[in-house]
Amino acid sequence: SAAEKGGYDYFMLKEIAEQPKAVADTLLGRIDAAGSLTLDEVRISASELREVDKVVIVACGTAFHAGLIAKYAIEHWTRIPCEVELASEFRYRDPILGARSLVIAISQSGETMDTLMALRHAREQGSKVLAICNTNGSTIPRESDAVLYTHAGPEVAVASTKAFLTQLVACYLVALYLGQVRGTKWGDEISAVIRDLSHISGEVERVLETMEPVRALARSLASKDTVLFLGRHVGYPVALEGALKLKELAYMHAEGFAAGELKHGPIALIEEDLPVVVVVPSPRGRSVLHDKIVSNIQEIRARGARTIVIAEEGDEAVVPYADHLIRIPATPTLLQPLVATVPLQVFACELATARGNEVDQPRNLAKSVTVE
Ligand code: AGP
Repeated sequence: SAAEKGGYDYFMLKEIAEQPKAVADTLLGRIDAAGSLTLDEVRISASELREVDKVVIVACGTAFHAGLIAKYAIEHWTRIPCEVELASEFRYRDPILGARSLVIAISQSGETMDTLMALRHAREQGSKVLAICNTNGSTIPRESDAVLYTHAGPEVAVASTKAFLTQLVACYLVALYLGQVRGTKWGDEISAVIRDLSHISGEVERVLETMEPVRALARSLASKDTVLFLGRHVGYPVALEGALKLKELAYMHAEGFAAGELKHGPIALIEEDLPVVVVVPSPRGRSVLHDKIVSNIQEIRARGARTIVIAEEGDEAVVPYADHLIRIPATPTLLQPLVATVPLQVFACELATARGNEVDQPRNLAKSVTVE
C-alpha cells in the first residue's frame, strides 16, 4: 500500500532514501568514543582472528559486488590475502580452505541457497564462517560461526540498494577490526578512515539531495539499447553494480568493465552517442589511477561516446571530457563506493520508470533465490 511505501511510488525509492539512516544504524554502537571498533558481537576470538591467513568472501549478485570492494579494503588495511568468489562457483572447484581461513558470507536475505551451500562447504573443510546479513535469525547466520548484522531494516524491492550500502559498511568494519586486532598498519590512516566513516551517512544524504539532474538524464536515455559502465580500483565493482541495476530494472544491455581493460577489447564497442558511465577515483592520493581514467574518458569520447562522469567535487580535470557530470563528495579512496553507487541506483530506477517497467518487481526475478 501507499502507506507502507512511506509516500513514495515504489519501495525502491523509499529504500534509496533510507540509505543515510541505514548506514548510520549499521555503524551505531560499533565505534567507541576513542575511535576504536567494538565488535565483540563477532563471536570469533581475537586469538583466532590473529591466526587467520586467508579471507575468502562468498556471495551472489549485489552482495558479491560488496565483497569485491571488501577485498580492496581487507588487503590494504590488514595485509591478509583475500579472495572473492561467486557463491555458485565456489564449492564446485574444490577450493583450498583450512582452519586458518576466514570465510565471509554476505547475504541480505540470509536465505540465498548458493551462498548457504558455499558456507556449508567451508565449514566442512574446518574454516570459520562469518555471515554479514540483514535478516535476523535467517538460515545463513544460523549456520555460521558468527554474524555481523547490517541494520538496513527490511528491504522489499527486488533490486538491492540500502542493503548494499550497509554491506559495504559491515565489510569496512570487519576489515578495520581485523586490522585493529592484528595491529597491522594501525596508524593515522586507519584512525582517519574511522572518523570519515562515522560521518559518511551525511555525505550519502548530500548525494541524495542532488539527484534531480541524474533523473532527467535517465529519462533522456530511455530509448537507448545499451549503457556501459567503467571504473577502476573500488570503482570497478561500482561499475558492475551500476550495470546490474540497469539490467534488473530497465532490461537494458548494460556491462561494467575495469577501465584498464578497455584497450584489451571493450573499446571496440564504443560508437557514436553510446552512453558510457565512468566512475572516477579521487584525484587526491592515488592520482596515477585518476590520470589514467581521465585519458580513458578522452579516448572513448574521441570515438563518439556520450560520457557520463561521476567525479569528486573539485575534480576539474574531468570537466572538458564530461558530457554529463555527476558530482559526489570527497571521501577516502576506499569509502568512495558508499557515495558513488547512489547516483547509479537513482539512474536505474528512473530509467526503469521511464521505460514503463515495474520497479519493485522486475520480470523473472525473486527477492531471494532459495534454489541452487
Ligand atoms: C540485487 O539487486 C539482486 N536482486 C541480487 O543480485 C541479490 O543481491 C542476490 O540475489 C543476493 O541476495 P542476498 O543478498 O539476499 O543473498
